[in-house]
Amino acid sequence: MSASPEAAFQVRRLVTEDVPAVLEIERQSYQYPWSEGIFRDCLRVGYRCFVATDLYGHVRGYSLLSVAVGEAHILNLCVHPDYRRLSIARLLLDQLVRQAVSENAESVMLEVRPSNKGAIRLYEGYGFKRIGRRKNYYPAASGREDALLLAYFLH
Ligand SMILES: CC(C)(COP(=O)(O)OP(=O)(O)OC[C@H]1O[C@@H](n2cnc3c(N)ncnc32)[C@H](O)[C@@H]1OP(=O)(O)O)[C@@H](O)C(=O)NCCC(=O)NCCS
Repeated sequence: MSASPEAAFQVRRLVTEDVPAVLEIERQSYQYPWSEGIFRDCLRVGYRCFVATDLYGHVRGYSLLSVAVGEAHILNLCVHPDYRRLSIARLLLDQLVRQAVSENAESVMLEVRPSNKGAIRLYEGYGFKRIGRRKNYYPAASGREDALLLAYFLH
């Protein structure tokens, strides 16, 4: 019998001591990674930041959420390249949705690159809907790339 992802991985709050491990994953995962300063700022301003850890306590994924009046926004969601397709992202999304509900948000929004087919599949499979497009949102090798705007409605 294989262990469920809930048993194999746990979600807890991201703390300052996690930043080096998070940065390592960030740099392996994105062509335009966030800097250490951005992660520290997110913690400082009180965004809701989480990590998924394995049985040994190693950080294998993370997610950051901002919550404003009525609306939550996923700022980053990322899983270590060697630990993908183990439902860690789904586990982190569950936590973000729980957090948004606890703060009375009506929806959870996010931007995603149209070229990021795996992430789009994850979000649409989870129940996010495409609600718009932001022109020239992301840096890209060819200049700029649009973002798809997705929303998960909580009511
Ligand atoms: C996108 C990302 C977060 C997914 O993390 P993950 O832990 O591998 O995702 P999960 O295992 O929870 O996947 C859940 C479902 O999403 C879909 N999915 C996830 N990654 C996929 C991929 N690369 N290709 C196709 N479908 C994918 C599948 O339906 C999957 O279910 P299945 O494995 O049972 O088929 C991860 O690939 C990642 O960190 N990518 C780099 C950073 C990034 O692009 N983040 C999103 C920015 S908007």
